[in-house]
Amino acid sequence: MHPMHEGEEVKVLEFYCGIGGIHFALKRTSIPFHIAAAFDINTTTNVIYRHNFPSTKLKESNIQGVSVSSLDKLGAELWTMSPPCQPFTLKGNRKGDDDPRCDSFKKLLHCLNKMSNRPRWIFIENVSAFHSTSMHSTLIETLNTIGYRIEEYMLSPVQLGIPNSRPRYYLLASLMEGPVHNEYVSHLYQYIDGVEECEMSTVREYLSDNVDTAYLSSDKVDANNLSIVEPSSISSSCFTKSYTQFLVGCGSYLRTCSGIRPFSPREVASLMSFPNSFSWPHQITQKQVYRALGNSVNVLVVSKLLERLLTLK
Ligand SMILES: C[S@@+](CC[C@H](N)C(=O)[O-])C[C@H]1O[C@@H](n2cnc3c(N)ncnc32)[C@H](O)[C@@H]1O
Repeated sequence: MHPMHEGEEVKVLEFYCGIGGIHFALKRTSIPFHIAAAFDINTTTNVIYRHNFPSTKLKESNIQGVSVSSLDKLGAELWTMSPPCQPFTLKGNRKGDDDPRCDSFKKLLHCLNKMSNRPRWIFIENVSAFHSTSMHSTLIETLNTIGYRIEEYMLSPVQLGIPNSRPRYYLLASLMEGPVHNEYVSHLYQYIDGVEECEMSTVREYLSDNVDTAYLSSDKVDANNLSIVEPSSISSSCFTKSYTQFLVGCGSYLRTCSGIRPFSPREVASLMSFPNSFSWPHQITQKQVYRALGNSVNVLVVSKLLERLLTLK
């Protein structure tokens, strides 16, 4: 159990909230929480976020504009962050912390350093390649200096029995009481303590009955080295924001008796452990949903990590 008193809610700031994957993950835990504010600059994902969480205060602004005093005043106990991964992905320019898309994350680290009312817990998610960047070194150094104990993970949903690959880097940090004498030792956990290995489920369990995605023509299938899975498969490849725009390397396609088709946005959401209640307004296109999901998280994996984080003292 997390060390909160009965009836108390954990006050959360959800940075880079996107479509709210982390909000859904918190809802899956037993943690009583209240999101004091969510932040994202993207107008499309914000429409989807508001549709799912109409009563959460969502700030549609650049995170770079936050100040030490405003964060101190908010006094949140948990910060969740999934900063932009483009500076670190193997497919990107890999400029790392020289990429201006890191500026807001650097600003948050600067604020953490200067704050007097720091969050007790921090959760960070990013692509696997983040772990070997100078931004990662800066992050660890900052957290270590100001007294956070750190646990790092490299996990994919397949480890929890979900037939979808999404290897990601996760960091859990908890503020220690008293003088700082923690020595950072790099260790990436490949499992979550206390979470038992699950039996693999098949892709079939994530399929919808009425799907209106078009079948691929045979010349498209033949000309490309597609990742094709079947309902009985126990794996599928990671869905990225470019799924269906580019055929190769952006997620698997499904072989059915009528042909080969993309997974529908709803099916992708299910493979990413979003609940059935997750939805989007009619003006949002399929392409926009694929894009938003491709940038999001596996809700089950994050929920298990958040449960773990709140047990850390
Ligand atoms: C990796 S995605 C996070 C996805 C989110 N966890 C979810 O479940 O959908 C990164 C998000 O950060 C947002 N973002 C990037 N830079 C930002 C900034 N400077 N200020 C606010 N939001 C920013 C993007 O719009 C994007 O939605």
